[in-house]
Amino acid sequence: MVYVAIPVALLCLSCLPAALAHARVTNPPIRTPGAAFKLACGETSFNAVSGDPTGHIEEQEPVNAGCDLTLCRGMLFSDQPAKNVLTVHPSQAMAMNVDCTIPHGGPANVSLIDTTAGGSGAFIGSFLSTFDDFCPTTEPAPANQTNLQYTLPDAATIGNKCQTPGDCVVQLFWATPDFSQNYYYCIDVVMAAVESTTPAAAPATTPAAPATTPAASAGNAPAAPSKMLTSVTGNLAAATGQAAPTSKTSSNAGRRRARILWF
Ligand SMILES: *[C@@H]1O[C@H](CO)[C@@H](O)[C@H](O)[C@H]1NC(C)=O
Ligand SMILES: *[C@@H]1O[C@H](CO)[C@@H](O)[C@H](O)[C@H]1NC(C)=O
Repeated sequence: MVYVAIPVALLCLSCLPAALAHARVTNPPIRTPGAAFKLACGETSFNAVSGDPTGHIEEQEPVNAGCDLTLCRGMLFSDQPAKNVLTVHPSQAMAMNVDCTIPHGGPANVSLIDTTAGGSGAFIGSFLSTFDDFCPTTEPAPANQTNLQYTLPDAATIGNKCQTPGDCVVQLFWATPDFSQNYYYCIDVVMAAVESTTPAAAPATTPAAPATTPAASAGNAPAAPSKMLTSVTGNLAAATGQAAPTSKTSSNAGRRRARILWF
């Protein structure tokens, strides 16, 4: 019996990916591997990630040319279920639950990252939280690591970025110098549509009667500002006739717009 039980136990351990994990972000959901990732990074990398969903990027090598492990372990937005994208707003207080399964110590930090092709992994603003010794080996992980609190950058800093799912992630980056391991965990975020923050706004289906009936316009005076705000905040570009921001100047306009909206 014993001779049978031991091999079975070993076999089962190797079947449990969680047993290999060094730290896990248990909430909210992080980016996971899928078909697009497998194509971009290769089968070896895909199998490594699938076997150890929260392992370090070094164990994912070798990878195909063009696979960037230092951005979300190479995991791609196109593989993520839509429900895993968090709808957030600038300056929002956020939390992340981390399970330090196998502590290693080392610095870690949280940042908002531009994952668009042009953004190429650039930070948006500064670090949202930093730790000198994450998942420490010397003591149980402190409460502010297992329930990691941070605040998203403000509207002026985010500007017109992160408006589309897949454009931005919150990334937890942890390196363990003693083990030469690097860990990346990515949470997809998208900025809430501006309309959702103006509950007083008139429904889009409200007929624009005042425009064609001057008398009614006077009678509906109190409703007019709210309506105007809706169109301005809903789509400044359309309201002002400005093209979508591409240059520095128009992206400044985007920041000004964001400031108006959020403060
Ligand atoms: C986390 O808590 C420790 C005390 O346990 C404190 O020294 C440290 O500054 C805190 N770090 C962050 C990022 O909140
Ligand atoms: C951020 O984390 C990385 C990975 O541990 C580390 O190399 C870097 O020094 C950290 N930077 C700050 C400012 O915390």
